[in-house]
Amino acid sequence: MVEIVSSKGALGARIEGLDRARANEPTFAAMLDQALAEHLLVVLPGAPMTPAETRDFARAFGEPQTQLLRYKRSGDVPEVSVMVSTLMTDGTTDKTAIRAEDWHTDDSYFATPAKATLLHSIEIPSHGGSTWFCNMHSVYDALPEATKKRIDGKRAMHGYDTPRARNRPSARTPEEIAETPDVEHPLVRTHPVTGRKALYLNPNRLDRIVGLERAESDALLDELADEARKPQHHFGHVWNKGDIVVWDNRATMHRVMIDYPVGEKRIMQRVLIKGEPPI
Ligand SMILES: [Fe+2]
Repeated sequence: MVEIVSSKGALGARIEGLDRARANEPTFAAMLDQALAEHLLVVLPGAPMTPAETRDFARAFGEPQTQLLRYKRSGDVPEVSVMVSTLMTDGTTDKTAIRAEDWHTDDSYFATPAKATLLHSIEIPSHGGSTWFCNMHSVYDALPEATKKRIDGKRAMHGYDTPRARNRPSARTPEEIAETPDVEHPLVRTHPVTGRKALYLNPNRLDRIVGLERAESDALLDELADEARKPQHHFGHVWNKGDIVVWDNRATMHRVMIDYPVGEKRIMQRVLIKGEPPI
């Protein structure tokens, strides 16, 4: 029997007893998609899979899409990207991993950001490297009424990079630059399944609030990010090899802890699920 076990924390649930090969059957797919909207994060333990198996499993949540950075795409399965965040002896790692150390939501620099992200661990270090998630419904709910009024109806500009981010992103090819002009999104979005409001924040990509002077915009974005940094909104996932974790980009942010041993492999497969423009 398949069971959905809530983490009892700020977000997240564990799906127990599901045969991954059957996830695409309509009953299971509907159950998984609903659990994602309600818990914002689902964890499915199991063994490492091939890129093709991961792509097929991901279809339970919607349509897998190819990702921006070509160099990460898995050869014959372009919908699966291979993310290598192994730490080198000089303390560096892939730029995407360094950027992922601060809170962000995936692909908000696209007009239609991914609905969900699937991460599947192929190799994990002996300790450290957990991924943390933030419930953006509860962040919105916790804002003072005056702040909610201030941001009501406001829109914000997201870009591939912003001077507000702590670290610079991976370099893009000319083709990739052409695909990533700045885009505008609502600062507060409504979840299409549950109808709940979520703060749509991304400290790595969100440059400014439309209609505000830079200083005022920076101060307000800092105030909003401060609420999201409070531990009461967070849940941490400690990886086991073979885990599948799927999160809802419509109402979460996430970050990776770069606190694992140098030289130990950390390799994940990633699939993005096609979304709808935020409203
Ligand atoms: Fe990410």
